[in-house]
Amino acid sequence: MKAGSHLLSIDDFGIDEAHLILKTAQKFEKLLETKRRINVLHGYNLATLFFEPSTRTKLSFESAMLRLGGSILPVVGQTTSLEKGESFPDMGRVISSYADIAVMRHPKEFSVHELCKGSNIPVINAGDGANEHPSQSLVDLYTVQKSQGRLENLTIGFLGDLKYGRAAHSTVKLLSRYPINFVFISHDKLKLPESVLKVVKDNKSEYEETDQLHDVINKIDVLYVTRVQKERFLDLDEYEEVKTVFQVNRGTLIDAKKSLSVMHPLPRLEEIQREVDLDPRATYFDQVQNGLYVRMALLTILLGKVRNVDGLKALEKL
Ligand code: CP
Repeated sequence: MKAGSHLLSIDDFGIDEAHLILKTAQKFEKLLETKRRINVLHGYNLATLFFEPSTRTKLSFESAMLRLGGSILPVVGQTTSLEKGESFPDMGRVISSYADIAVMRHPKEFSVHELCKGSNIPVINAGDGANEHPSQSLVDLYTVQKSQGRLENLTIGFLGDLKYGRAAHSTVKLLSRYPINFVFISHDKLKLPESVLKVVKDNKSEYEETDQLHDVINKIDVLYVTRVQKERFLDLDEYEEVKTVFQVNRGTLIDAKKSLSVMHPLPRLEEIQREVDLDPRATYFDQVQNGLYVRMALLTILLGKVRNVDGLKALEKL
């Protein structure tokens, strides 16, 4: 991922670039302990285009831009000229006249790729339908490293809606580049798509699939829980059938490792009971906080303000 490029998929960056993002995020986390603002992006505008609801992704990108000294141009819902029939490429070209970087969430898969056809500025995919959510996966990578202290020799369980969960799709693809064992735990109707499983196989990762969490909980280092994505079901009776198959509660964690991290991209419904929030292994609100640091890193790298690890020292002077 170079300055000026788009971030549409996990396929857009390699391990070295992910390493730079993690290092940069770590630097911002440290700097924010003593500063409220680091003026590295003063004079830059971020357009945030959200055609689906969002709390974390939208606010963390906006907060990141503001903490970096930049400005935001927010769009929410059906308020653009897409409603009048304007094409995504034309909208991309128009946004390039006003903003220096854009982030878009849209229910249609690959719509953000269409936007990029007309865009002259970097565009970040903040979720396109059930396809991908790559910035969430970088937040997840950062959280795994921070909570477990490493990115190798881990067993990571993905639980819940592995069919429609775009964060799970991107995060499985990203983590399969590391020496990690996977356990995919889901109802038969919500299994990981073959296209994502192919990446796991191509990267020669060990994996197993099961519908029994209690059979595998004792060997898991990170339990990545996902919400059943009601909005993606064509048949709501099918959603009703599977929506509460898995519910993580205090009892679920009795046989789990003391070092377990329970993650979730959030929002959560019933799949993690509130009693788990009090368990020191609950990591999902740290994950939310990490979203700020990782998105500060992404904005500075894509806008060419950090090009390598050596360049991080310059941030201390700002
Ligand atoms: N994790 C995530 O994408 O959350 P939001 O839908 O609130 O942005």
